[in-house]
Amino acid sequence: MRDALALTAGTHPHPNPRVGAVIVDPEGVVVSGGAHQEVGTPHAERVAIGDRRYPGHTMVVTLEPCDHTGRTPPCTQAILEAGIDTVVVGATDPDERVSGRGIARLREAGVRVLPDVAPDLVEANDPAYFHHRRTGRARVTLKIASTLDGNVAAVDGTSRWITGPEARADVHRLRGESDAVMVGAGTIIADDPELTVRLDGWTGPQPTPVLILGEREIPRDRAVMAREPLCYVDADGVDLDAVLSELPDHGILSVLVEGGPTLAGSVVRAGLVDEVVWYVAGALGVGRGREPFAGTFTTISDLRTLAVSDVTPIGNDVRVTGHFEGGV
Ligand SMILES: NC(=O)c1ccc[n+]([C@@H]2O[C@H](COP(=O)([O-])OP(=O)(O)OC[C@H]3O[C@@H](n4cnc5c(N)ncnc54)[C@H](OP(=O)(O)O)[C@@H]3O)[C@@H](O)[C@H]2O)c1
Repeated sequence: MRDALALTAGTHPHPNPRVGAVIVDPEGVVVSGGAHQEVGTPHAERVAIGDRRYPGHTMVVTLEPCDHTGRTPPCTQAILEAGIDTVVVGATDPDERVSGRGIARLREAGVRVLPDVAPDLVEANDPAYFHHRRTGRARVTLKIASTLDGNVAAVDGTSRWITGPEARADVHRLRGESDAVMVGAGTIIADDPELTVRLDGWTGPQPTPVLILGEREIPRDRAVMAREPLCYVDADGVDLDAVLSELPDHGILSVLVEGGPTLAGSVVRAGLVDEVVWYVAGALGVGRGREPFAGTFTTISDLRTLAVSDVTPIGNDVRVTGHFEGGV
């Protein structure tokens, strides 16, 4: 299963799932493997099978094989035609068109199926897919970079750079893992960000810019405007829940929200943030600049507890990753 998962590294198949598969001979040797690379290309099972037959072999596949015809014919059919004996499935597919049906179809045809052997590993490899199929919304990671004393920008709006080059490279890695990067009007006007992945040797797709706009006109010369952003505009405040429910129609299942404080406050208060990645700089503003969230922390019952899953020093800064308790 770890080999099958490893084959999904570098794949960008959303809105389809990341899936890897290996074929193991009766002696336990991996003889073939493959992954679903992107929408419209063959599924992992078909890549692993190719045009050969594998009687007496076992397929280990991260996600339940599909039994419906979408852009490609059902994978269950390919498995049956290849004469595979046993299928080991990492996780049942949460997609209601598939869930349980692929496994049932294989069993009906006499294939031995071992389901759900590593659901946590498989979900951790593609959390946005599972989140979307369960909630109907794109999964949100909120990224914030602040000084140790809690400022995301100086009073005059300048914020470049609060963190060091290593942490900034880590943000580019996060962007590379995301289908889209979302910012609000204030950040576009103040910072003119490109919102691209700029990593040496990066050959993957660039995340789609998603702009949350209100009353203010965005100057046409802003760098991001040349990147065909998806723009959502409402002078009374954009309905962010509706945006996150619509983004999957554009193939976007994972969104990195990069601020600023007004947008960050809105997404957290609306309960739409699944994961927080916070870069705490080894640097001080020494005084009050701009706070990470617009709005007030009125009383202790407003406290939002994060389940902290990782704390990693990066250069001269620290990255804290957490999930909201009870979140999906
Ligand atoms: N350190 C960091 O991690 C970081 C990251 C990003 C930005 N920043 C800093 O943050 C500052 C900009 O922050 P900001 O708070 O002014 O801008 P922002 O959060 O990027 O944009 C907020 C604006 O988006 C529009 N909007 C429309 N619907 C909205 C909704 N539902 N929720 C929230 N906003 C909505 C409104 O525009 P209208 O006002 O036009 O109606 C609103 O004022 C800059 O100084 C930048 O340097 C820091």
